[in-house]
Amino acid sequence: MGQIVVLDRNMVNMIAAGEVIERPASVVKELMENSIDAGATRITVSIEDGGRKLISVADNGGGMDGEDLAAAFEPHATSKIKTSSDLRGISTLGFRGEALASIASVAQVRAVSRTRSDAGGNCVEIDCGDKGSISPCSADVGTTIQVRDLFYKLPARRKFLKTANTEMGHITERFTRIALANRDLDMTLTHNGREVYKLVGGQSLRQRIAELFSSEISENLLDIESSEKGLHIYALLGKPVISRTTSKFQYIFLNGQFIRDKFISHAIKEAYRGILEPDRVGVVFLFIQMPYEDYDVNVHPTKIEVRFYNANLVHSQILGCLREKLLGTNLDIDAKLPATAAAKAGQGDAVAARERSQKIADAMAEFFKKHRPVQTQQQFGPTSKKSFGAVGSTGLQTTERRTGVAVPAFGAGEKKFLQIHDSFIVTQTDDGFVIIDQHALHERIIYEDLCRRIRESKLESQKLLIPESFEVTDAQTDALQTNAELIEKLGIELVPFGPKTVAIQAFPTLLSKAAPLDFVQDLLDLLTDKDLSLDAERLLDEVLNMAACKAAIKAGQKLTMSEIEKLLADKEKTEYASRCPHGRPTTIKFSISDLEKQFKRT
Ligand SMILES: Nc1ncnc2c1ncn2[C@@H]1O[C@H](COP(=O)(O)OP(=O)(O)OP(=O)(O)O)[C@@H](O)[C@H]1O
Ligand SMILES: [Mg+2]
Repeated sequence: MGQIVVLDRNMVNMIAAGEVIERPASVVKELMENSIDAGATRITVSIEDGGRKLISVADNGGGMDGEDLAAAFEPHATSKIKTSSDLRGISTLGFRGEALASIASVAQVRAVSRTRSDAGGNCVEIDCGDKGSISPCSADVGTTIQVRDLFYKLPARRKFLKTANTEMGHITERFTRIALANRDLDMTLTHNGREVYKLVGGQSLRQRIAELFSSEISENLLDIESSEKGLHIYALLGKPVISRTTSKFQYIFLNGQFIRDKFISHAIKEAYRGILEPDRVGVVFLFIQMPYEDYDVNVHPTKIEVRFYNANLVHSQILGCLREKLLGTNLDIDAKLPATAAAKAGQGDAVAARERSQKIADAMAEFFKKHRPVQTQQQFGPTSKKSFGAVGSTGLQTTERRTGVAVPAFGAGEKKFLQIHDSFIVTQTDDGFVIIDQHALHERIIYEDLCRRIRESKLESQKLLIPESFEVTDAQTDALQTNAELIEKLGIELVPFGPKTVAIQAFPTLLSKAAPLDFVQDLLDLLTDKDLSLDAERLLDEVLNMAACKAAIKAGQKLTMSEIEKLLADKEKTEYASRCPHGRPTTIKFSISDLEKQFKRT
């Protein structure tokens, strides 16, 4: 009895602050968002000691009069919504009326503000929820809020703060997000009196990215703009050469608010599929504009997540326009001399292959170790006596014998190409030359051709002389039904053969060396493996990938002139020719001007 007490207002605010104010960076975000909502065109953020000692945000926005300044630090005090109906369609960054109250309950705060219509300003000080009275003071139009000694009365939370450098890193990240979304604003960030960023309003997104990140990033981005079904998308997409190992460089904004969203992240990942290696992540700056009524922003304490009412539309539209752009762009890598850039892109940050990808890769490797696709003459037959004859538009019927004629020296006659180390092809272009990885390029050509054939019909198959039957479990029967289309496309024909028994009647020619029964059973194991949750599309992709890899000409294989010509001609006709199906580059470009610079001719 009598154990339960209602906490006093200060305690309630302190507890609420835990949700919104996690660290100094959260304070910076809240104060900057308030400045933007107040219509500021200039924001100055000054930090001392990673924000432990001081966070000051000064703006030239609309300001507050004395009465509003007194009210602003009360819990649930906001000028941004009035009734519950306003909650649907929020267009400001803030709306809950809790940020200032939360901040003021866990630090020493001094706020100075002046409206345009007032001759002078007002000032208030709050010490961990203990508010002083409003007093007049001289001030420019706008608001300055200084937050000192964050969490000083909450030693447990203060202890939790990291070093000044780490906290400053978080602050810089929040500043960066806001700066990317508000390019009209003049924005300055200083740390211990030293200028970190001084950004001029009116910059283009690319200019801002160059200042906030690097010119290497800003120079390797592709522009996208699309507007459909009430959704406007503007994005700068990173070329593979600047890909990363984490999604930290994916900036997604919804109506100017930085968000994280699993549907959008998935769409981005899918858009880059086959363009990046599985352990690399694309750099993306994505700005979405849509009616405020089409999503709920009130689902997360820091508003970093939203709920879309039609997430499928958002997903499909983003995937569609990003993939179209990536598909339609020549992504050959520009060589950087001296040759450090390509190596750097390969090594990058420590490569941490994602677990699931690895699991799938392992399972597939195991699968294909057992069931090697064969290379028959009527397929691509690089090991046959016929020339490899890429399965491009001219088909597979190349009958020309390998003549063993040596490829001419570079530049001899009209043939302006050369095979080096029996692995790479060097060919002249209008403004320089390119080096092509013969295996990687051929792999892509075959892969695309297989995809095209599969889109049009299915893989060629042959009837088994004696159908092979096997028993199936309920789960396998389900998997067979769910993936019926995939199985048919692969050229595998299965028919019911009594209760819980199925017979294989036809099997793909491409896999004619594999034992049909083993293959189909292993395929079913993969499809029913809950851990992998491999969908039919991914499995088909893996099968085609593997087939292309096995059938493609190898590194170390000498090619005839006509084979090289065919390869180069097929490159022109093939989508995605800049990357092999695993996302590795096929081609590196060198420009004459780069060479001239290296040789100090210019
Ligand atoms: N820099 C500023 N300039 C002018 N008015 C401000 C400024 N900062 C805060 N205010 C006023 O104080 C009110 C309270 O701010 P606070 O950040 O606590 O809540 P909010 O922005 O309305 O909602 P949220 O808690 O979601 O941020 C705001 O609604 C706004 O009217
Ligand atoms: Mg706010």
